[in-house]
Amino acid sequence: MTQFEGSHILSVNQLSLDSLNTIFNVAHKMTPYALREKRTKVLDGAILGNLFFEPSTRTRVSFGCAFNLLGGNVRETVGMAASSLSKGESLYDTARVLSTYSDVIAMRHPESYSVEEFAKGSRVPVINGGDGANEHPTQALLDLFTIQKELVHSGRSIDGAHIALVGDLKYGRTVHSLSRLLCMYKDIHFTLISPSELAMPEYVIADIENAGHKITISHQLEGNLNQADILYLTRIQEERFPSQEEANKYRGKFRLNHSIYTQHCKSNTVIMHPLPRDSRAQANELDNDLNSHPSLAIFRQADNGLLIRMALFALTLGVENQLEKYECPVNWYSRKADR
Ligand code: NCD
Repeated sequence: MTQFEGSHILSVNQLSLDSLNTIFNVAHKMTPYALREKRTKVLDGAILGNLFFEPSTRTRVSFGCAFNLLGGNVRETVGMAASSLSKGESLYDTARVLSTYSDVIAMRHPESYSVEEFAKGSRVPVINGGDGANEHPTQALLDLFTIQKELVHSGRSIDGAHIALVGDLKYGRTVHSLSRLLCMYKDIHFTLISPSELAMPEYVIADIENAGHKITISHQLEGNLNQADILYLTRIQEERFPSQEEANKYRGKFRLNHSIYTQHCKSNTVIMHPLPRDSRAQANELDNDLNSHPSLAIFRQADNGLLIRMALFALTLGVENQLEKYECPVNWYSRKADR
């Protein structure tokens, strides 16, 4: 039995290097199922409550598909208006009720610490799919898994890596969670590039400093990237600004395209973004002209999300060693295995 069985996953602060390795080992084991080379029905009969009270494409759908790929069923609630939260029901009551209908719950909500509050009323494990500007632990896990795979592929490692985080570091929950996970490794050089008003929160900076890593803070992209192993771009989190006018001030401040990449980055700097990228002309933080560049890892990142979420379900429900026992053939034609 691992520490994950029956437990909530609310924050990256719960994780240790050992537990990261456990998750990543199980995630690797999920590859043939995600590629439809094999099927497993290990969660046949189990129900995921997928509660998304904030917009989402990748996170919501990949949580659902991950559960389906393990043989389980998904019950989805999308949007505040479709739920009794809009009638004044508390998170506690919602959790108390919905957790009797489900075996595990994934939840996203616009308020910081709301998923933690919800978990207090839940009788089943709750996985945080993003709580306001606070945390996004499953995204951080898939980002770290991607960083490890991409660096190992080119003979590098996370220890000693130079990681540039760019954009809205204030409201971007993915960079808050990812930075704290990276703190567990050795000798990281963090380059934090944002407008001064959208700087990384002090408590995250303190964690990086206390872990003894190097930090460079800058307000411009050019001139700061030539040693970066990872360049992690983010979107201006417009939904967290007091007004659209306020968000407009920062859109398009940092843009990466093919020419800027070639001029300012090493030839093997890995380009990452949690997605969605804002492709509107006034923002366009990551240009389409890099779409076929081998260093663009954004879609591999999203693919890895499926593996990580499958691993988290298997671990929280304690079936990570029973995948093979419940295997069955793939009956339909599938191209995914050829990728
Ligand atoms: C991120 C999020 O929701 O925090 N998206 C995601 O889950 N992949 C980043 C964002 O919305 O900009």
